[in-house]
Amino acid sequence: MMKRRIRERMAQRAVCLGMAAWLSIPGMAAAAQSATADPGGGIRAAETWAFLEAPPPDPHAPKPATPPDPDGVRHVPGSARSYTNAQIDHGLLGVPDWFPQDHPPMPHVVAYGREPAKACGYCHLPDGSGVPVTASLAGLSKAYILEQVAAFRDGQRGNGPPATTQDMAEEARQLGIADVQLAAAYFASLKPAPRIRVVETSTVPETHWDYYVRVPDKSGAREPMGERVIEVPDDFGGYEMSDERVRYVAYVPRGSIARGAVLAASGDGAVQACEACHGADLRGTGNIPPLAGRSPTYLVRELILFRTGRRTNPEAMQMREEAAHLTLQDMIALAAYAGSRQP
Ligand code: HEC
Ligand code: HEC
Repeated sequence: MMKRRIRERMAQRAVCLGMAAWLSIPGMAAAAQSATADPGGGIRAAETWAFLEAPPPDPHAPKPATPPDPDGVRHVPGSARSYTNAQIDHGLLGVPDWFPQDHPPMPHVVAYGREPAKACGYCHLPDGSGVPVTASLAGLSKAYILEQVAAFRDGQRGNGPPATTQDMAEEARQLGIADVQLAAAYFASLKPAPRIRVVETSTVPETHWDYYVRVPDKSGAREPMGERVIEVPDDFGGYEMSDERVRYVAYVPRGSIARGAVLAASGDGAVQACEACHGADLRGTGNIPPLAGRSPTYLVRELILFRTGRRTNPEAMQMREEAAHLTLQDMIALAAYAGSRQP
């Protein structure tokens, strides 16, 4: 899952950290900050868990494993298929398709990409489930998918942090319209599967980053939940191998789901009811995307991107207005509620 990219990014990051020293001239730092001024309410601080970028070295994280043998053969439970590490890690050799019975045949661009554009299935998985750092695409409307790919291509989305959104922008610029049309029709035809369990808690397992996902520490230690969403795969090995049946637990603060339900159905002051546009049960209407059953981390990330003016295509105007009135607590509550619904 995006492993090769991550290695590249880590290397780039090391270079950037070295360069950061040069940027600490007061005027430049102020200029850099004014472009991304803190919208308040801890929203900027939330980027540390919502953005899933290559994180600064975590002293508690396990030492990086030696790169796996490219010819090593891997399996996942319940699938008769096998793939080599090289195939799993590449993005242009045919994505691992562990459960072909779970989805219709993939168009070429979804399964193999179109060099240099990587396979959509490499980052969004063959059945469109996605992972927290990318996005679930199953069941989005074709028109919405086309519109968003165009927004990425035109620099209206993925034009700044998090770096992972820039991967999608790069992808969009490498694709021809025929492939985008086929991929959009494919993902729009899929029925989204439930993959998320939302758990309200006051303490959460301590976690560290591994390949762009939070993983519980082996120590079993817990820490205060705080105002966060901590989303962990139930099988990290499966996550690494792009097993689309992997499920996630999203830990959220106590009371989030009920609070989100009220906001979604009735709004509050300047906040309009989400269901007015996203439909009953947040399943989406027309070209307005569904929110039900999608990764709560993804949903908070997008609300932050609307709020901080980093989704700027014309169709995003209403959402930018809406997100301007949401606190971080609202965003978490709404994402928790939406994530807990049947997709
Ligand atoms: C290298 C990884 C990568 C590949 C390959 C990739 N994507 Fe993405 N895509 C992403 C990431 C990361 C995001 C989430 C951006 C964000 O956080 O806002 C994304 C988001 C999207 C979205 C926005 C979804 C939404 O709900 O708004 C669409 C649509 C999309 N991708 C379509 C595609 C299609 C179609 C392909 C293949 C032609 C593709 N992607 C290939 C990484 C990738
Ligand atoms: C006035 C209509 C309207 C209301 C009300 C509204 N939305 Fe939206 N929302 C949209 C539209 C339109 C989009 C798609 C934006 C685009 O096409 O770029 C969207 C997109 C989103 C996305 C991004 C989904 C994705 O796939 O990337 C999230 C998250 C979201 N809305 C959450 C909410 C929440 C939470 C509420 C309630 C607090 C809400 N919306 C209320 C119209 C609305």
